[in-house]
Amino acid sequence: MVATPSSTHAVQSASENAPVLVVEGVSRAFGSLAAVTDVDLTVHPHEVVCLLGPSGCGKTTLLRIAAGLESLHRGRVAIDGQTVAGEGRHAVPPERRSVGLVFQDSALFPHLSVADNVAFGLTERSGRRRHERVRALLEQLRIGQYEDSFPHTLSGGQQQRVALARALAPAPRLMLLDEPFSSLDARLRNQIRDDTLHLLKDSGTGTLMVTHDPEEALFMADRIALMRDGRIVQVGTPMELYCQPRDPFVVTFFGDVNEFFGEVRGGTVETPVGHVDATGMADGTSVRVMIRPEAVNVTVQGEPDGRHDRSHVVMSKLLGASSLVHLCAHDAAGGESHLHARMPGVFLPARNQPVDIRLDPSQAFVFPLDEQQAGGASSAQADGSPLRAQGWN
Ligand SMILES: Nc1ncnc2c1ncn2[C@@H]1O[C@H](COP(=O)(O)OP(=O)(O)OP(=O)(O)O)[C@@H](O)[C@H]1O
Ligand SMILES: [Mg+2]
Repeated sequence: MVATPSSTHAVQSASENAPVLVVEGVSRAFGSLAAVTDVDLTVHPHEVVCLLGPSGCGKTTLLRIAAGLESLHRGRVAIDGQTVAGEGRHAVPPERRSVGLVFQDSALFPHLSVADNVAFGLTERSGRRRHERVRALLEQLRIGQYEDSFPHTLSGGQQQRVALARALAPAPRLMLLDEPFSSLDARLRNQIRDDTLHLLKDSGTGTLMVTHDPEEALFMADRIALMRDGRIVQVGTPMELYCQPRDPFVVTFFGDVNEFFGEVRGGTVETPVGHVDATGMADGTSVRVMIRPEAVNVTVQGEPDGRHDRSHVVMSKLLGASSLVHLCAHDAAGGESHLHARMPGVFLPARNQPVDIRLDPSQAFVFPLDEQQAGGASSAQADGSPLRAQGWN
């Protein structure tokens, strides 16, 4: 955690809508490895932005550059309107950046009580006001009863709550969180996420939070910046990333999909589960069609009869809040494809159950194949089948 007493004054200094963090054209390499390349990003007050991406894509490096714990090679970082790092400039050290930091395993001061840990950055306040601030934060994070406890007597989840309170106590302009919940078990994680989200939104601070978990990003973020190989692939609201993904990587990062390869004809692509809109793509374009399992809607038709000449169920699994149905879909030309449907609640049709399959077009995405992929796809089509399914079997 790094936060300075002076940061409390900074809260009033910026205009309401100005970004608290501006990252412009930032790059950082380690030897020949480009860890972060040409990244632009902003975070506004009251906003939670999640940096999402696979392991090693540069999330922590970017967060550390914003914090001042890592240098940059190109670009600029500004916090609360002040440039704190840029090419050829002397970088402002972390403790003078008005940032609160929380990491996966934030080290608390072992010799200080919970209250003294949280009060650590509050040296300018009167004793009474300091205590009030500490108490309020501990109550909001539901750890008020541990005020006088020492860190080693607390569970991992309680210690993370203390770390969050300590980082927030001086009211920093910017909170930088690096996988703060990842060492906690699933139930505890959900609770702390929820409490943290409310606390961050109420506090008015801007937050940049690293996670590799797409569900966590969807839960926490006002905007998500999805990274791959050091670059930001897409930035937008959770809705934009989920419903208007820019490329196949964005689609698959949020979950498994049914994939087919085909060709555009008259502004649509034919798949075993119906036509998918491809407006604006030229006839003959080789495409990859990605259909989320929740876009595949299943209704049972008649009784299981062992006939395999129409679309039917292969198996059904309950996943908890939803059910996953493995299907064998039959298209008009008699071809068969294996695909997955995710249905809400308990929906477990028996093996061989004949079904109708309908498609929700809002969760089906079409991308042109690059030349190499297109070569593979068109040779597969030479056998007469209009489409080739990939993935699940
Ligand atoms: N100090 C360093 N020296 C050399 N290489 C580094 C250093 N820090 C990071 N890297 C490399 O930079 C790349 C990005 O690392 P980074 O820690 O930013 O990834 P990440 O997205 O946070 O991954 P994870 O999800 O696993 O935490 C990785 O290949 C990593 O090995
Ligand atoms: Mg990391």
